[in-house]
Amino acid sequence: MSIEIRPATPADLPQIAKIHYAAFGNDHFTSIFPQDLLEKFYEEVLKDSPDSYVGLYDGQVTSFVITGAHTAAGVKRFTKRNKARLMGLMLRHPKHLAEKIKIKLFPPRFNSSTPYRLMSIGVSPSFQGKGIGRFLLLNLDRILVEKGITQFGLSVRRSNKRALQFYERQGFVNEGETWLSVYYVRTLPNTIPSS
Ligand SMILES: CC(C)(COP(=O)(O)OP(=O)(O)OC[C@H]1O[C@@H](n2cnc3c(N)ncnc32)[C@H](O)[C@@H]1OP(=O)(O)O)[C@@H](O)C(=O)NCCC(=O)NCCS
Repeated sequence: MSIEIRPATPADLPQIAKIHYAAFGNDHFTSIFPQDLLEKFYEEVLKDSPDSYVGLYDGQVTSFVITGAHTAAGVKRFTKRNKARLMGLMLRHPKHLAEKIKIKLFPPRFNSSTPYRLMSIGVSPSFQGKGIGRFLLLNLDRILVEKGITQFGLSVRRSNKRALQFYERQGFVNEGETWLSVYYVRTLPNTIPSS
């Protein structure tokens, strides 16, 4: 399978949102966002995530990966700007409201050792299990090593068994857990031999 990778641009937002809907389970609060709101979410996040890429198969975007040192800032800005809509969505979806209340009551706090984060990765369901996720990660490793980044981290929901298995197969190391998420860290070599 030949996959091309290039930096993500604002023009990719509709396709990134489509892949997100198709790939992420409905555990995620974002799964109930209308398309325009999910695009706004990724738009804000992309502004602070210089190392974000899309994977193309036959010219079509079928995967994406979003990383950066300030991904939380984009989420914060998005939340602030869309407070009323987010509140409305929560009130209409009791499952997500209950989870937000639980998060407020029992904050799932964990201080990761690494500020550089992989915020989101997704592969269209019909392209999953073909090595695209691994390919995106290996490319990311190469790019980050070139930039002198030695480590990056991520958190993933405990309920997302597939992603947990995926990260463990890729050699990510578990650095801690909360009732909601598992935190992983990936340490990069100083150089990556060219393939
Ligand atoms: C997680 C995800 C990105 C993986 O991408 P993918 O293209 O399907 O994964 P790959 O085909 O590259 O698989 C890579 C490795 O993970 C393993 N793997 C993939 N899916 C697996 C599964 N369901 N169970 C066990 N192992 C699995 C593969 O066997 C492979 O192992 P190998 O490297 O030893 O051969 C993709 O499934 C996805 O988009 N999931 C939904 C979104 C999501 O949950 N993102 C992560 C949270 S941020």
